[in-house]
Amino acid sequence: MCGIVGYVGARPALGIVLDGLRRLEYRGYDSAGVAIVCDDELRTEKRAGKLSNLEKTLGDERFGSARADGAAARPLGRPPMVGIGDGTAGIGHTRWATHGGPTDRNAHPHLSRDGRIAVIHNGIIENFAKLVAELEADGVEFVSDTDTECVAHLLAAALTDLRAVGEPDGPQLLAAAMRRVVQRLEGAFTLLAVDAGIPGAVVGARRNSPLVVGRGVGEHYLASDVSAFIEHTRDAVELGQDQVVLITAGDIEITDFFGAPALGRDFHIDWDASAAEKGGYDYFMLKEIAEQPQAVADTLLGRLTEAGEIMLDEVRLTDQDLRDADKIFIIACGTAYHSGLVAKYAIEHWTRIPCEVELASEFRYRDPVLDRSTLVVAISQSGETMDTLMALRHAKEQKARVLAICNTNGSTIPRESDAVLYTHGGPEIAVASTKAFLTQLVACYLIGLHLAQVRGIKYADEVAAVVSQLHQVPDRLRQVLAEMEPVRQLARELAGANQVLFIGRHVGYPVALEGALKLKELAYMHAEGFAAGELKHGPIALIDEGTPVVCVVPSPAGRGVLHDKIVSNIQEVRARGARTVVIAEEGDTAVVPYADDLIYVPRTPTLLAPLLTTVPLQVLACEIAAARGHDVDQPRNLAKSVTVE
Ligand code: F6R
Repeated sequence: MCGIVGYVGARPALGIVLDGLRRLEYRGYDSAGVAIVCDDELRTEKRAGKLSNLEKTLGDERFGSARADGAAARPLGRPPMVGIGDGTAGIGHTRWATHGGPTDRNAHPHLSRDGRIAVIHNGIIENFAKLVAELEADGVEFVSDTDTECVAHLLAAALTDLRAVGEPDGPQLLAAAMRRVVQRLEGAFTLLAVDAGIPGAVVGARRNSPLVVGRGVGEHYLASDVSAFIEHTRDAVELGQDQVVLITAGDIEITDFFGAPALGRDFHIDWDASAAEKGGYDYFMLKEIAEQPQAVADTLLGRLTEAGEIMLDEVRLTDQDLRDADKIFIIACGTAYHSGLVAKYAIEHWTRIPCEVELASEFRYRDPVLDRSTLVVAISQSGETMDTLMALRHAKEQKARVLAICNTNGSTIPRESDAVLYTHGGPEIAVASTKAFLTQLVACYLIGLHLAQVRGIKYADEVAAVVSQLHQVPDRLRQVLAEMEPVRQLARELAGANQVLFIGRHVGYPVALEGALKLKELAYMHAEGFAAGELKHGPIALIDEGTPVVCVVPSPAGRGVLHDKIVSNIQEVRARGARTVVIAEEGDTAVVPYADDLIYVPRTPTLLAPLLTTVPLQVLACEIAAARGHDVDQPRNLAKSVTVE
């Protein structure tokens, strides 16, 4: 929710900030804005709508007064003043609106009254009403409806106070003022600020919201996530909770909110810059769907030791802790929750430990029974989802052990967990999750196997046999992807439908839920996923002549009963006029008479089948959305990283 970028160095900041915002636009695209410090002045520009609106307004300014190729950036006749394109320190923001509608006025940055301080913010300041009232009593007139604007005014007041008591001017003063302000804030925030009077410095602060530092040579970066600066540096610093960071061209200084020196955690980014580009695909989503074989292979890489043991990443849990676990809760949201639903089948089957899957947003409100022998598995691509983070903290307060599955190094959820298994999916830019889902499934399978192994339920050779099946998945995925043309054709045919229903049984049920979620969020169509057996208890009434029903069929080789039952369900919906789209295992001829459209996927063990059966549903949703003329990568009302509850 909201993307934030800051830069200080020797190069023009505007282009670097805009490029960073482009990479962060998936986090929110209601408005965008920049503030650049230029020769003791602050230049800002902000616009409602996508980043392209702001870029249009800025025109050639991003190239500064002298472009590298020597061409004039400005129309002839304009005075050679230091423009917004020339400043070498600046901040930028792309917004997902919380307080105040998505207008120019509410776009960030927000300024102090004298226009010399600019602030951008991700999160929600919960005590903003009290702060606004206080500032208004002091004569401040607010020009926006946001909670952020109060920070600009508070920062101005703090700087004035510090100067009045003789504190020397300079970057340290900006950091000291920020510390004063954040001590007064409640809620979740990442803040960045610049002051026209303190050139060459950007200050940041974070609480419950992401902020990473990019370490360059003679230049430094701040951003909501590393994709904003990977084309410039792969060396990053993860900030801890409640820290203030000051970047200048030559230095990075981190303190806590009270000024005590603090340390971040250095890490190296192993994604390359091209991973965050479209690479010839029309949409990031299509590229990310195509990357799934590699993402699955990368997530499996190096997980099995020579002794046949599964390796997690950061483990602050002992095997004894895992042996003591008598109950597992999986907490997650949206697509990640669906991966948890699949995991339940595998984990219970392999470990015999009861496993419940909970929507993270509901978890702590129902007072779940947790203690130190409960293992909580938190699944999050971004590692910043506030609902999941709050559920995780609740679990930790109750002394439960927490194991995170996460795609984002340097994010909050893995940092606050007792153990982590990173999915190596690479950056996922499209708002709709695809490769993150598949890699989360792989991570869940690995955790299930690891638990079974430490508890002595599975021997190394049994674990190795499943891992070897997993290693065959990338090739099978390539096969699925190579045969997607009929799905694209089907998508064009279904683009005009009013609704699409999805049914599945066993692990096919979460796949049905995921297929429906993808279609809702991308195509803005009514779509529902059902456990196939539930249809006759109500939802079958939705079926009308021609209603498309996508049926996820389990392997006939695995559990025959399951297979036969869903074949009966397919017949039931077809008898009521449904157009049946059947996803089945190749060689399954029993479904042929009941399938209006039949999509085969390669054979794979029943528990692992979601790794393959999900893919046609992703392609279907993406292509229906494109056929309906929607923005596939940035669906309306959504944002990639949901950092509010
Ligand atoms: C849907 C989607 C969302 C996320 C959910 C959790 O395509 O992407 O439902 O899965 O918001 O996000 P993370 O995994 O970042 O916690």
